[in-house]
Amino acid sequence: MDRSVQPARRIAGGVRLPGDKSISHRYALLGAVAEGETSIRNYAPGADCASTLHCLEHLGVATARRKVDSETGEPAEKIVITGRGLCGFLPAKDALDAGNSGSTIRMLSGLLAGHLFRSVITGDQSLQRRPMKRVIEPLTRMGATIRAREGNLPPLEIHGTRLRGIDYPLPVASAQVKSAVLLAGLLAEGQTTVTEPVQTRDHTEIALAHFGAEIERKRRITTVHGGTPLKGQKLTVPGDLSSAAFFLCAALLFPDSDLYLQDVGLNPTRTALLDFLSSMGAQIKVLNLGESSGELIGDLHVIGGRLRGGQIDGEMVAALIDEIPVLAVLGTQTEDGLIVRGAEELRLKESDRIATVAENLKRMGAKVEVFPDGFAISGRQSLSGAELDSFGDHRIVMAFAVAALVAKGESRLHNSEAATVSFPGFFEQLERIAER
Ligand code: S3P
Repeated sequence: MDRSVQPARRIAGGVRLPGDKSISHRYALLGAVAEGETSIRNYAPGADCASTLHCLEHLGVATARRKVDSETGEPAEKIVITGRGLCGFLPAKDALDAGNSGSTIRMLSGLLAGHLFRSVITGDQSLQRRPMKRVIEPLTRMGATIRAREGNLPPLEIHGTRLRGIDYPLPVASAQVKSAVLLAGLLAEGQTTVTEPVQTRDHTEIALAHFGAEIERKRRITTVHGGTPLKGQKLTVPGDLSSAAFFLCAALLFPDSDLYLQDVGLNPTRTALLDFLSSMGAQIKVLNLGESSGELIGDLHVIGGRLRGGQIDGEMVAALIDEIPVLAVLGTQTEDGLIVRGAEELRLKESDRIATVAENLKRMGAKVEVFPDGFAISGRQSLSGAELDSFGDHRIVMAFAVAALVAKGESRLHNSEAATVSFPGFFEQLERIAER
């Protein structure tokens, strides 16, 4: 589907954010192996988290969408999952379809490895190009047998077994891989320890503790003890900071923007975005800090203004990985531009995000220098409205809808439906706050 986006003058108002995608996947997966019911409010509405629910349904997990709170009678949209307990999945009749979702295939593989049957899990064309060696390797060490297509690509055929705990130093900074190993560890005999090269998002660790798992954490080292039953929970998913990033960056493109975002997830392993924007001179206030099921939440108030520019490298890369496409767009409008290095992982996302960011920026007339592990974008560039593409990647299409706001003339975004992977309704929300 094609969409046109017109330039804007400023961004003002407030936006209702979808539930956090990362947290939603984890709540669903843990609810499925817990005992009793888990109810989840504000479950992420995008296709990725629906893929997780569909896979779980095919494994015998009952899920229901309730529109009314059964206790209070109040309207409340929530997902209710009836857990099957540890190792309680039933074999699926067909291959499981993770759609576009790397989180689903990788994290669910951790659970499937501990079930005593054969499963096949695959996904769409983009997912079938994404590397799976990173989960195959530790899960094989734990005892599972996993076959993949040449190059360690999906579909994965997983022969689950009674797993044994391992001590695993993660070779890549990946929260999905860390989570796959911890989830497998939950079903394994003995203890499983994961050591991260750099800290990545810790939603799995927080949720495991909340569901009653035996888990110990010491900085970048996490140990989970296998076999402890989990208890179903009542949970509310915070607003997605990575979705908020598009609106924050849109606001920062215009000097007199004024934007308020409510109930945003502010887990410190995700807020590098706010620190980075502030380091460039952005005025972002955090208000009404609170907590929800162990996750920090709060409101954000951002005022537009000129930004200096900056560099993303080293440990910052993992912490900002999903926000880099929209930061690249913002970089063109800063005083000094944006340099990203050490970010080869970007090439392994839903699209090769180094190539797709550079391609769309070039179509808008911007100058970009591309490296194998990043790019350099000079500041104070003027962008022209152009024919842009999502390249099937939700974060690319949303980043370039933001770019179109500051361009001269109309832009057309091809294959814009990619946004529904994490944010159905994104374009409508963007239109509501874009003043012309
Ligand atoms: C995610 C981890 C990151 C991130 C992805 C979601 C998660 O991927 O890019 O959007 O929910 O754990 P990697 O684990 O591949 O870095």
